[in-house]
Amino acid sequence: MVDVPMLVGANAEIAPGVYRMQLYTDGVALTEELRPGQFVNLKIDGFYLRRPISICDWSHGVLTLVYKAVGEGTRHLSAMEEGAALRVLLPLGNGYTLLPDKQPVLVGGGVGIPPLYYLCKELIRAGQKPTAILGFNTASEVFLQSAFAALCDTILTTVDGSAGVKGFVTDALPKLNPDTSTVYTCGPEAMLRAVFRSVEFSSVQFSFEERMGCGFGACMCCSCKTVTGYKRICKDGPVLRREEILW
Ligand SMILES: Cc1cc2nc3c(=O)[nH]c(=O)nc-3n(C[C@H](O)[C@H](O)[C@H](O)COP(=O)(O)OP(=O)(O)OC[C@H]3O[C@@H](n4cnc5c(N)ncnc54)[C@H](O)[C@@H]3O)c2cc1C
Ligand code: FES
Repeated sequence: MVDVPMLVGANAEIAPGVYRMQLYTDGVALTEELRPGQFVNLKIDGFYLRRPISICDWSHGVLTLVYKAVGEGTRHLSAMEEGAALRVLLPLGNGYTLLPDKQPVLVGGGVGIPPLYYLCKELIRAGQKPTAILGFNTASEVFLQSAFAALCDTILTTVDGSAGVKGFVTDALPKLNPDTSTVYTCGPEAMLRAVFRSVEFSSVQFSFEERMGCGFGACMCCSCKTVTGYKRICKDGPVLRREEILW
């Protein structure tokens, strides 16, 4: 884990209230390996607590984050202009474990979708052929769909049916082989719970966006009960396997 000074390269709104920020290292060569499902913790000027955001992409020294401006910290982030500096603690969390399934399914909802993009690229690099199911409430909220579609089979769902399949991500799940299928998912807890119920026998990895303090295992404020005892979502997660979750 390192605390790296980075510079904002671009910070553009890609859907109402959702921004894609590209950050590059300010003369520091990063030797850390960044894995899909890991996150970074951003030090935003004027805020004591850092803000955790998933790694959406990491390529040629450029870190891409996609975030929704929901409160003061992320609104401040959305106003940062090209060339602005901020410190980034990375990499944090365990990330997804890439399993040798030839046709894994990635299931994301809203701002849970960004970490699945880097995962999708890494699965393809490993010779796999993922399918992505991306869920939104309505057509105007859709983002990253074309980025996924450029990589893999992509199914879009909207709750109101204004784009793609009408309904929830679970309405678009393909028939899974319980012995070989792998599902990787990230999204709001209600969606994760629905996926948990829908894919009872397959191998499923869930990424949680729990409220955090330190982000690296020191304060215990993200601790939650699992089958094998209490785990810190920041350090022992954010990715948990289906068998570990107490729902
Ligand atoms: C591992 C992880 C990965 C995440 N990845 C993304 C991502 O890729 N894109 C994205 O849009 N959002 C992501 N989030 C959620 C994001 O961290 C919050 O939306 C953000 O911290 C809100 O900060 P704020 O100052 O705007 O909101 P405020 O409500 O003002 O924040 C107050 C405090 O609560 C915390 N907080 C508020 N909402 C959340 C939340 N949903 N999750 C965790 N902490 C929260 C803040 O960090 C801050 O410490 C992630 C959260 C976690 C834990
Ligand atoms: S946020 Fe401090 S231990 Fe997880």
